[in-house]
Amino acid sequence: MPEHAVVIELRGVDKSFGRQKVLDQIDIVIPEAKTTVIVGASGQGKSVLLKHMLGLIRADRGEVLVLGRDIARMSNRELRDTRTRFGVLFQGAALLDSITVFDNVALPLRERTRLTESEIRKRVREKLELMNLVDVDEKYPAQLSGGMKKRVGLARALILEPKIVFLDEPTTGLDVKMSKEIYRLIHTTQERLGFTAVIVSHDVPKIFKLADYIALMAASRIQGCLPPVEFQLSDNPYIRDFVQETMGEIYTSGERVT
Ligand SMILES: Nc1ncnc2c1ncn2[C@@H]1O[C@H](COP(=O)(O)OP(=O)(O)OP(=O)(O)O)[C@@H](O)[C@H]1O
Ligand SMILES: [Mg+2]
Repeated sequence: MPEHAVVIELRGVDKSFGRQKVLDQIDIVIPEAKTTVIVGASGQGKSVLLKHMLGLIRADRGEVLVLGRDIARMSNRELRDTRTRFGVLFQGAALLDSITVFDNVALPLRERTRLTESEIRKRVREKLELMNLVDVDEKYPAQLSGGMKKRVGLARALILEPKIVFLDEPTTGLDVKMSKEIYRLIHTTQERLGFTAVIVSHDVPKIFKLADYIALMAASRIQGCLPPVEFQLSDNPYIRDFVQETMGEIYTSGERVT
């Protein structure tokens, strides 16, 4: 993708857990200001791939370049500074159970900025409202539904208005209306801030509307990273099977789903 600046690039990345090879010679480029969606069946290594991009898991072989720099050569401090540019929503939200919703969302602001308490309050309220979360500030994560936790996680991922976001299953467990809201939010934020998004999703084919590129993880490899239309027409056997299984008639009718 030479026409865009590259935010992240993996070159020949291998990763095994014991005898299980999860990533095999992974090459992928994440272009700036675009949305790259990673799809694939459960257990194919999507979350593991994301964790390599964040420097949370170290590759057995190959390179992970973040903003042009090899993540394996960064000091802890550099790694931390790099990560502050990222907004991250982990699969399962990963909220801190012992502090309130408000404090969970405020955490990145308290750790990374020198904003006053009243400015922090204003920003947190704004993001919670955006996520349609009312009267939950003082609640603890255990008192929330799964979908609410997910939205709190999203509020926290976006609170620093990051230029790069990693979202692992942002809509799983949300109802249709809320999922649509999340997609709209990602889309409008992208138009406004031009941010780079890497999204892992099972929400096929809906997520195709948001994607600039779709990468399929199968057989421990990236089976093509293509624009949605090309993805749907690809003759890569893994992609063809995936499209057939997840889209079936929708694909063969030649129509996009709304
Ligand atoms: N820290 C770890 N130690 C050992 N095995 C791991 C570890 N993390 C992931 N795995 C294994 O790697 C494989 C890929 O896991 P991963 O979580 O990336 O799947 P996924 O594609 O995200 O699946 P899902 O769609 O269900 O979230 C799985 O078999 C998993 O058990
Ligand atoms: Mg996963």
